[in-house]
Amino acid sequence: MAAKAGSAFSRFIASTRELFAEEKDLDQRWQRLAPLLRELLADPQVREHSKNWPECAHKERAENLLFYEDPDFGFVVNGLTKAPHTRTQIHDHAHNWTLYGVLDGTETIERYQRLDDGSKPDYVEIRGVSKLRAGPGEVDLVRPWEIHAEASGEERTVAIIVRAEKAGGFLQGRYDPVNKKYWQGYGPIQIPFKAE
Ligand SMILES: [Fe+2]
Repeated sequence: MAAKAGSAFSRFIASTRELFAEEKDLDQRWQRLAPLLRELLADPQVREHSKNWPECAHKERAENLLFYEDPDFGFVVNGLTKAPHTRTQIHDHAHNWTLYGVLDGTETIERYQRLDDGSKPDYVEIRGVSKLRAGPGEVDLVRPWEIHAEASGEERTVAIIVRAEKAGGFLQGRYDPVNKKYWQGYGPIQIPFKAE
């Protein structure tokens, strides 16, 4: 991220590193990361700068802006822009813990539950369990294998995402509830970008 000394980003990286060093319980670690991410999302300069972040493509594989990868703990910080009326596929992040924070605009976050036992190849039954509107400063913890989708609405949205490890190099689940189809694909393409 090429964080400047004293910037909101550099403070966020420093406090996240402290947390990762101290908290070994994964659920606790990721819950405790939420207020740190909220602090970053509240920074007016970060929001202002994000207006110039490039538009991420949302195809079979989405694009993520890659701001930072931690050399010791492996966590990454991504940016994600969505043009108006963009909806992700229904997907999971495999084993990867994720904290998803809305920086600008309002997104709809859908959560799903799997109903079948997964024994039939390429087959899945899911049902929607929640649909939340998340505005600037709101944070969603996506635990391993949790099934979800996000959508922008009338306006462009921007998110800052913290992941336990860099996505894109391993397979993640994809879900088509209409045709009851399950398949796997590689996660987001990582586009190195300076966040500030
Ligand atoms: Fe996701």
